[in-house]
Amino acid sequence: NGQWRGVIEEYRELLDIPQDTPAVTLREGGTPLVHSEWLSGLTGAQVWLKVEGNNPTGSFKDRGMTTALSVAVHEGAKAVVCASTGNTSASMAAYAAKAGVTPIVLVPEGKIAAGKMAQAVLHGSQVIQVRGNFDDCLRMAREMAWKYPVALVNSVNPHRLEGQKTAAFEIVDFLGDAPDYHLLPVGNAGNISAYWLGYTQYAGLGRATKKPVMRGFQAEGAAPLVTGEPFPDPETRATAIRIGNPASWKLAEAARDESGGRFAAVSDGQILAAQKALAANDGVFVEPASAAGIAGLLAELEAGESYTGTTVAITVTGHGLKDIATALDGLVLPDVVVDADVDAAAAAAGL
Ligand code: F0G
Repeated sequence: NGQWRGVIEEYRELLDIPQDTPAVTLREGGTPLVHSEWLSGLTGAQVWLKVEGNNPTGSFKDRGMTTALSVAVHEGAKAVVCASTGNTSASMAAYAAKAGVTPIVLVPEGKIAAGKMAQAVLHGSQVIQVRGNFDDCLRMAREMAWKYPVALVNSVNPHRLEGQKTAAFEIVDFLGDAPDYHLLPVGNAGNISAYWLGYTQYAGLGRATKKPVMRGFQAEGAAPLVTGEPFPDPETRATAIRIGNPASWKLAEAARDESGGRFAAVSDGQILAAQKALAANDGVFVEPASAAGIAGLLAELEAGESYTGTTVAITVTGHGLKDIATALDGLVLPDVVVDADVDAAAAAAGL
């Protein structure tokens, strides 16, 4: 009865936040779990897509931003800061606007998709571009929150992971149990850590009989969790995961080890091909970084990995409309033009 209330009100007693915190919410979460006939056919598994682009600002970040902003505002914050590759800043800016506090955004200069920049600006952020990468921005954001009266809402703020873990709850609530495998893109490594928190909590409560094997995928040019070493100059067209030294490194490794999972790298070519194939086969348009989990699954199948008979969840993290420049790059756009005549249009369409 009634509409979805947002992740705090839907799951409040399961979240480790002060229980009297009023929710700053845009009714995030409650996103679709879409069955992929395409990937199920390829794998012989039941493959489900957790479509996080359906959140209010178009990415999974909203789940953690409702909790982080709610607690920060409850504790008296008047300004909030984050470092971002784009989505975190878009989300923070929207929730800051809703709460009436000032958003300050630190982003790597020239490396933010246009849609995300538009969101940050329209929601009223002070956008500071930094001559450096995301890792430099995060170091600055931490220091700014230490030195100045501004609350840090990057995922090093534990309230972020509390909100983000609700995606795991939703998957189990829908499927009736945890999947056998969970695949997702990894950048700063907050999300994989949050999913693992959520799955572990649900298993502990007896709401799931198992926990999934976690498999995280990074871009080849920004794959510190794969190589075990920070990348001083991360580079990938999947700008959302262009990160060389993830903040949640230790938590993500724990998720890998406790679940019997692994990290692997996919090339930009594989990521962009997966983005296109997902759009064409399943009707789901995601931004490049969001296709890393799909690219990973396809690469594993090619390498002879089997998922036959299992249940697989793949998080697609953000909406395709965030970054249309990359989506359109290299495409030959349709140039069929006809007079305003239905038969001419039908003939051109091959009917
Ligand atoms: N996918 C998208 C679309 C993202 O924006 C991010 C991270 C990730 C995946 C990786 O998630 O960092 O939790 O491992 N974006 C952050 C940002 C860094 O600033 O928007 P993660």
